[in-house]
Amino acid sequence: MNEIREVLVSRDAIREKVIELGRKISSDYEGKDLVLVGVLKGGFIFLADLMREITIPVDMDFISVSSYGNSKSSSGVVRIIKDIDVNVSGKHVLIVEDLVDTGLTLNHLKELFYTREPASVKVCTALDKPSRRKVEIEVEYEGIIIPDEFVVGYGLDYAGKYRNLPDVCILNA
Ligand code: IMP
Ligand code: MG
Repeated sequence: MNEIREVLVSRDAIREKVIELGRKISSDYEGKDLVLVGVLKGGFIFLADLMREITIPVDMDFISVSSYGNSKSSSGVVRIIKDIDVNVSGKHVLIVEDLVDTGLTLNHLKELFYTREPASVKVCTALDKPSRRKVEIEVEYEGIIIPDEFVVGYGLDYAGKYRNLPDVCILNA
């Protein structure tokens, strides 16, 4: 673990934010047909936590997009590796991401879901690095804003490792 420099966002701070987001989503989508779409692999822990703070009936699925591989920066190319099985036509889609960085992934995913005639498409992210944005993207349910540091833990990996860390940590460059 000598690649880990420090804890940036503690598990307690994450938990507090997840509860707040869950409450807001539950009230905003009351009486609506909501589908959470988790972005694999990183989004699986956040989706599992968030879903349990949502008090209204909700469906969920996962989509898998190409990652950075073993690199620390986005190639800009987004490839769908595994699509969702749920039909989202007429439903409210909430994309659940671990982290918004350049915004390229979400930009692509939003466009993809809009072609499927949903009632709405919105975004919920656990973490956000707005200083790194390459495309403008609206994040309706904003998690914790972090500086431009490469982080791991809470679902986020580096070369496949560290997703299991309960805190969000900064990796040594
Ligand atoms: P974007 O398309 O640049 O916004 O990339 C978003 C995705 O890249 C996130 O969902 C993460 O999976 C990954 N990513 C971006 N920054 C980091 C980081 O600091 N650590 C680990 N993964 C990251
Ligand atoms: Mg991701």
